Amino acid sequence: MTGTSTTKTVLSGIQPTGGAHLGNYLGALRWWVDFQDRYNAYYCVVDLHALTVPGEPEELRRSTLDMAALLLACGLDPDRCTLFVQSHVRQHAELAWLLQCTASMGELGRMTQFKDKAAKVGYESARAGLFTYPVLMAADILLYDTDVVPVGDDQRQHLELTRDLAQRWNARYGQTFTVPGAAIPPAGGGARIMDLQEPERKMSKSATSDAGVVYLSDDPGALQRKIKRAVTDLDPPGPGAVRWDREAKPGVSNLLELLAALRGGDPAELAKDYESYGPLKADVAAAAIEALGPVQERYRTLQADPSAVLDVLRHGAAQASAKAEETLERARRAVGLLAR
Ligand code: TRP
Repeated sequence: MTGTSTTKTVLSGIQPTGGAHLGNYLGALRWWVDFQDRYNAYYCVVDLHALTVPGEPEELRRSTLDMAALLLACGLDPDRCTLFVQSHVRQHAELAWLLQCTASMGELGRMTQFKDKAAKVGYESARAGLFTYPVLMAADILLYDTDVVPVGDDQRQHLELTRDLAQRWNARYGQTFTVPGAAIPPAGGGARIMDLQEPERKMSKSATSDAGVVYLSDDPGALQRKIKRAVTDLDPPGPGAVRWDREAKPGVSNLLELLAALRGGDPAELAKDYESYGPLKADVAAAAIEALGPVQERYRTLQADPSAVLDVLRHGAAQASAKAEETLERARRAVGLLAR
């Protein structure tokens, strides 16, 4: 869908490294697919953001293409959205610079994700890009006159910063950017899928072990194994053993939420069908295999044809650049850069 003035614009980004998992799919990617028909949709694989932490060049190249293939396999359709790789649209890096000169050290230093990540590697050796990461994200968003940004809780602070930067800029240099609205909570509240081994933690590719993370590329065997070994608790089977109670039974509740997200329905209601954990796990595994099977099949087909994926990305980048250039030109002029 190409944007008419009444269609709102949605934009989101995903990092290429580490692969996408079931939490990404249920919490975000399947909504991206949904949004294609309701919004003028831009989606990007944020390879520049991946450079904020150490990695191998060859691995980045491979994972960027893989992530794009996976997004297409999930149902993103180049006829209904603009899918591109962030670094292919150079305006992102340029606007990020202009916005870095709008943001302050203080506000970037307050970003909790920076504090967490910098603490992990040590403040002194943390890459400067890790510090300015949220400004690049703001550039991603502001270049497209984005109205809404679907992001999880962990990115809300970055979105708030984006709004602050846009408002500050507009107040200082005149109306230039659309101020994005808050994140859209997906219909039904959005699934928050937890790690199968540490159900108090969100499922994440930065988990200490892969055992609790179901990757979209996991084959049915691996998928079944991971779900079967999911942490539950030691309550004996019987009525009430399977119930939705995030506090007392985090592992079981997570399995119920997975089932609800995959099959539809309400986790507390679904619990009533079970008296022990085995059958619940079997059903979750079956539902996951059913949902991911077609995605994986398309993924394999696309992986076998990388040039087709590249074509989609090149087309997406050309489309995105046209819009991004307009916005960047507005920003360049507003801030006082000499016309070229
Ligand atoms: N920072 C986001 C994340 O780690 C990814 C991202 C980059 C993004 N640019 C974006 C998300 C723009 C939404 C909009 O999840």
